[in-house]
Amino acid sequence: MSSTDTLATATAVEHDQICKMADAVVVPPAPEKNRRDELFARAKQLLKEKNAVLVAHYYTDADLQRLADETGGYVSDSLDMARFGHEHPASTLVVAGVRFMGETAKILNPEKRILMPTLEAECSLDLSCPIEAFSEFCDAHPDRTVVVYANTSAAVKARADWVVTSSIATEVIAHLHAQGKSIIWAPDKYLGNYVQTVTGADMLMWQGSCVVHERFKAHALASLKQKHPEAAVLVHPESPADVVELADVVGSTTALIKAAQQMDNPAFIVATDNGIFYKMQQAAPDKTFYEAPNAGIGANCESCAHCPWMAINTLENLISTLETGDNEVHVDPETGKQAMVALQRMLDFSAATRNKPVKN
Ligand code: 13P
Ligand code: SF4
Repeated sequence: MSSTDTLATATAVEHDQICKMADAVVVPPAPEKNRRDELFARAKQLLKEKNAVLVAHYYTDADLQRLADETGGYVSDSLDMARFGHEHPASTLVVAGVRFMGETAKILNPEKRILMPTLEAECSLDLSCPIEAFSEFCDAHPDRTVVVYANTSAAVKARADWVVTSSIATEVIAHLHAQGKSIIWAPDKYLGNYVQTVTGADMLMWQGSCVVHERFKAHALASLKQKHPEAAVLVHPESPADVVELADVVGSTTALIKAAQQMDNPAFIVATDNGIFYKMQQAAPDKTFYEAPNAGIGANCESCAHCPWMAINTLENLISTLETGDNEVHVDPETGKQAMVALQRMLDFSAATRNKPVKN
């Protein structure tokens, strides 16, 4: 067995533990309406008092997304969250999402205070790719250009030549492929395989996966599609290949929302985290949305795709963070400087190209 095979096997085994960690996350129950209103008002006041701006991912709780919208903050995908935080003048950024998003904000803005409602919000892709094993993998293939997904630690980004998000991965890999480069891709094997299929690039894959998207089921999706022939199927490329096969549009969270808004279909079946429905419904209020099945026919929960780590960002812990200043994100300055090189490449590339859905 080659060293590559060994490492691939090692990460695949760890995936079981990562799934157990995800399943063990305790998501607090949503507060009653009156309590929510109180918390919402308090959070609003604190953001103002602390000169802080809230940047939230589409997968976070609808209250947090609404709070960001109503306080001059921003709700978006991971690439745009990074861009917005970088350009906004506030001295404190509060990042509601998962840890790599907070770390990315800190790398891009070392002079700013970056807070997160919780520092416990992991990502299975980040967890699947520890720096020591990844570095070894890269060292074994020194001729390859190292491209990592944004869903990784600061240390892994610092080891990379490029960072990409799902909204720009295909374009970056096509660009590198056109230059004759062969690639190490990490950590999401499904996104990697998708990009490889579209671009034909030579990519050596890390074997990570997203615990939410990998659970979408092609067979059950095909049945739902038959039941709703008027609906277009929107799929995030972290999903397995047989699910992507059934898609009318494959793209980042922002690309999927745009597709729902711009396509003529009256209905959509959506294979991504169900937190996205808050913005999707706002963008296309007259359309109908169905969650893609993620647990197979006959299971207790056929459509319950929600990232447990996104779900532990709440109004309560946001308030507590703003009151105490706890949950500040720190990145070793040297690591941050090195990671910035790969991140800046992505930002420059994205500024120079127009982002669009990767398959129509
Ligand atoms: P986006 O880059 O599309 O926001 O995706 C981030 C993510 O974590 C998807 O699971
Ligand atoms: Fe990570 Fe998946 Fe959660 Fe996105 S949805 S943050 S990829 S575990």
